[in-house]
This record gives sequence, C-alpha cells and structure tokens, in this order.
Amino acid sequence: MPRFVFRSLFQLHGKREQGMNPLDQIVSQARADFLAASDAAALENAKALYLGKSGQITEQMKSLGKLPPEEKKVQGAVINAAKVQIETALTERRDALANAQMQTRLNAEAIDVSLPGRGRSVGGIHPVMRTWQRVEEIFRSIGFDVADGPEIETDWTNFTALNSPENHPARSMQDTFYVDGKDSQGKQLLLRTHTSPMQVRYARMNKPPIKVIAPGRTYRVDSDATHSPMFHQVEGLWIAEDISFADLKGVYLNFVKAFFETDDLQVRFRPSYFPFTEPSAEIDIAFGSGPLKGRWLEVSGSGQVHPSVVRNMGLDPEKYIGFAFGSGLERLTMLRYGVNDLRLFYEGDLRFLKQFN
Ligand code: FA5
Ligand code: MG
Repeated sequence: MPRFVFRSLFQLHGKREQGMNPLDQIVSQARADFLAASDAAALENAKALYLGKSGQITEQMKSLGKLPPEEKKVQGAVINAAKVQIETALTERRDALANAQMQTRLNAEAIDVSLPGRGRSVGGIHPVMRTWQRVEEIFRSIGFDVADGPEIETDWTNFTALNSPENHPARSMQDTFYVDGKDSQGKQLLLRTHTSPMQVRYARMNKPPIKVIAPGRTYRVDSDATHSPMFHQVEGLWIAEDISFADLKGVYLNFVKAFFETDDLQVRFRPSYFPFTEPSAEIDIAFGSGPLKGRWLEVSGSGQVHPSVVRNMGLDPEKYIGFAFGSGLERLTMLRYGVNDLRLFYEGDLRFLKQFN
C-alpha cells in the first residue's frame, strides 16, 4: 500500500523524480536533522521545521484541502504515515539525548568506590581522663581499692565530718556551689569541694585496714589559669594500726616517679594546714631535668588523718592511724604534658586535644 500511495502522491504533484519520493526525502531529512541536534533545544528547533505551524509535514497536510475527497483520504493516510515516522524519530532522538545527558551526569557524579571512606572519626581519651586512668592503674598495682562517690554532698560529709564545723574559717577556703534541696538534717546540699568526703564515706562502709583512692569531679567558685569551677581530684586514704607519715612519703614518692616515668625528681612535704589532718603538708615536686627543672610545684594536699576525723569514720583514734592526700588531676596532667593553662582542657578545641591521642 505505501508504494501505491507514494506513486499517487508523485502523480498528484506532477513530479517524477529519480530515487526517493518527496515524503521519503522529508522523513530522511528530518531523521538527519534530528540526529544532528546535539541538545534538547536544537532538537525542538529541528522538530519545528517538520511538525511546527509551517513545518513541511504541516504544509503537506494543508495542501490536502485542494484534493478531491477520495484522494484526500489516501494522501492523508500517506502524510500521516510520514508524520508518524518523523514523530518516532523525534521521540527516539529525545530519548537518546536524555540518556546521554543522564550518562554525563552520572559520570560527573560518579562515586569512586576505591576512595577511602570518610568514616566516623574515632574519639580519643581526654588528657585529664588519661591521668585518672594512670593514677588508678598505679595505685591498684600497690593494693589500693578504687572508690567512687557522689558529687552532690551533704554539709556534714563535705565539711563537718572533716573537722570543719559551721562557721569554721577553713570553710571559706573552699567557696562552693549550693544545690536546691536539703539533707536529712535540713542543711542545704552542695557540690563537693574536694574528694575528701570520700574518706569518711568509704571508711564507714569498709573495715580497716583501709587502703583506697577515690578519684572524681569536684567544684569550687574558682576560675583562672590554674583553677576551674569544675576540676578533678584523687583522694588517697590509708588507715590501719601502724600507718605513719613515713608511709605517706614512701607511697607518694613512688607514685610520682611512676606517674611521671622518671626517678629524676624530688618530693618535698611543706608544712601546711587542713582541718582534717594533723600534721598537714602540701606535697611539692621538682624535676631534675626538662623545661620545669628545679622549680618546686605543688601537686597535692596531705597529712596524717586528724583523730576527730578517725572518730567520724566510726573508728577508735587510739587504735587507728593513717594518712590521706588529695591531688589535683588537672595539676598532674599539666605537669606531665607541660600545659600552662588549665582552661585549655575544657575549651573542647580538637587541635589541642588531638595531641594527647
Ligand atoms: C584539698 O582540697 C584537700 N581536700 C586536700 C587534702 C586531702 C589534704 C587529704 C589533706 C588530706 P586543696 O584545696 O589544696 O586541698 O586542693 C588540692 C588540690 O586540688 C590542689 O593542689 C590543686 O591541684 C587542686 N585544685 C584545687 N582547686 C582547684 C581548681 N579550682 N581547679 C583545679 N584544680 C584545683
Ligand atoms: Mg592547696
């Protein structure tokens, strides 16, 4: 049928050309134009040449009007067939261009699976926590228990049991934060100012000999390069029938040597005052080498546990005696790593913190 139809179209136009008939030519020209269009806009322009208002196929359709009805029917079908071929070619080209565009995009956005993944960054241990762990390790190795206690304390445990009754001037050495809420004696609760309340808490729950450290968070109304409102201490307590100040010296000297990983340091016990120890001493250390060589640096408070405190532990001070110390974990960390401003520990600056991991 198409062959017949085309022939009649030639006759209609009075043309007898060699080779292709005009509609075939239009179709093949359209195919060529569509193929040449390299993007969607060019393709739409090419489409207009054939299927647009005054496109070649549209013009052919218009010319049908002049034909008698039977011819019109036949020619209409022929032109329509050409139109369908052109539309098919158009759709094919559209799809091809869309595919090509998608391919370009896929290539551009391709994921290189051979690249190392971004992963999740691994956290590190905070330098003060590192100190905490080391302190525990060292004291455990010489037979100390490790205890944990509350950060919200009662007035009695934080002060009174430690021989600092109300209105005692020593209380003002440790200005503290009070918490809403009262204890069973109607006294305001507070954030512990030191780990020393753990001396009494632990001793009341354990039988002597008592040999314990209690590391943890402590709070004071303090803020400068060497003091922060929240800091850490480690309490040490050894109570038995025959524990003297000499034992404190031996234990602490061995501890600092292990902690700083050097024998090249000196420890000095400088007389001081704490209500809960008598005698009392600040423990200073001096390194024999390194950047801090020869400077005496305070690391801890210490002393022989006061008889009144031994009594508050529920023990007979005539029978039991021992020592206690309370060291600042930030202070130990600063000395170990040569950090001169304690606030750096709490600013959360990764550039600083990463150095310890
Ligand atoms: C005490 O807190 C006593 N409880 C220590 C003690 C325990 C003495 C047992 C005797 C027997 P002091 O207030 O000096 O003492 O604090 C001890 C250490 O905690 C200091 O040497 C210091 O290293 C650290 N420290 C105190 N306040 C701060 C603070 N605001 N920020 C950081 N570290 C602090
Ligand atoms: Mg002190």
